[in-house]
Amino acid sequence: MLDIQKIRAEFPILSQTVNGKPLVYFDNGATSQKPQIVIDAIAKYYQEINANIHRGVHTLSQLATDAYEISRGKVQHHINAKFTHEVLFTSGTTHGINLVTNGFASILKPGDEVIVSSLEHHSNIVPWQMLCEKTGATLKVIPMNEDGELIMEAYEALLSEKTKVVTVNHISNALGIINPIKYMIEKAHAVGAAVLIDGAQAVPHLKPDVQDLDCDFYAFSGHKMCGPTGTGILYGKEVWLNKLPPYQGGGEMIKEVTFEKTTYADLPHKFEAGTPNIAGGIVLGTAIDYLNTVGFENIQKQEEELLAHATKRLLEIEGLKIYGTGKNKASVVSFNIDGIHPYDIGSIIDKLGIAVRTGHHCAQPIMNFFCIPGTIRASFSFYNTVEEIDLMVEAVKKAKTMLS
Ligand code: ALA
Repeated sequence: MLDIQKIRAEFPILSQTVNGKPLVYFDNGATSQKPQIVIDAIAKYYQEINANIHRGVHTLSQLATDAYEISRGKVQHHINAKFTHEVLFTSGTTHGINLVTNGFASILKPGDEVIVSSLEHHSNIVPWQMLCEKTGATLKVIPMNEDGELIMEAYEALLSEKTKVVTVNHISNALGIINPIKYMIEKAHAVGAAVLIDGAQAVPHLKPDVQDLDCDFYAFSGHKMCGPTGTGILYGKEVWLNKLPPYQGGGEMIKEVTFEKTTYADLPHKFEAGTPNIAGGIVLGTAIDYLNTVGFENIQKQEEELLAHATKRLLEIEGLKIYGTGKNKASVVSFNIDGIHPYDIGSIIDKLGIAVRTGHHCAQPIMNFFCIPGTIRASFSFYNTVEEIDLMVEAVKKAKTMLS
């Protein structure tokens, strides 16, 4: 069992008051809070070894390069990638997805098909739409049911030899539904399609094993897993990363440059043009170490309890409807109250110190499916408590009374 109070003491932001009330932070799906060890590691980098990487012979540059590459190795180990050079540092999930769609622009042809799911975040819809517009490929969408689950029969019916890419999120940001990605990857591979998994909402809750999943790409962000903003990872199978052209041209991604022709650096550097977020990349490794110290089994146990408690308590409120009622769920509850706009509830409970996200959560097609403008989304982390959930429920009840 986790000692939650001890863990909470490691996150300085959690002990503050907001609008005169103790902060209840339930917007972890948007970004997680940072433990002191992560905050300290950022300062330590700038105080002790700040220098550009892969460029200098001087001691600080070597120290910074070593720390950056050690962090890449930690990520490799964490997601069980076969090679370190299959791990690319990015600025976040969006960057990783755009890197892949940019690469497929030189591969896809008119008549080819790309399959996305109806549960995607805009960042895993729009880049594929842009790619289809550029190449003449067609975008197909896996439908969902009223519980917010993808319909597997419909998915399998969409797959054919025309399918070149399938892309789906591991966990839906708006509803918290966990998708059966291992099964979906197997089916996509059976028709020869590549698969990209958007793991942004999964990595705070579980440890993805990219070799076991057998995905071709897995993109995620550091800031949702206790790391700094502006950090992320794109895992790509070596064979695909060798096939795709570079995303950006610039320093450090080349072997040789002449005005006639440039040859590109080996992996991973081919995809890492320019000076990266060095401190961020290093400290992402610190965040991963931290989460592994807490332990993903412990994290899951705590979050399951929070999800069950929140679902039960919220459903006590008359007129409250939860969206995303499928069986496999992460610790996210998306809900509305009959006749009340989610924004109004969100604004009132903020005055009571409770931070939730309201709106379409960058997943407008999901809101269109349910014919709603948006939801109130409470997304929990292992450092949250059942007492905080009770505070939220009381605040929502109060807001409901005020607005009815
Ligand atoms: N994608 C983030 C969210 O779901 C920002 O809130």
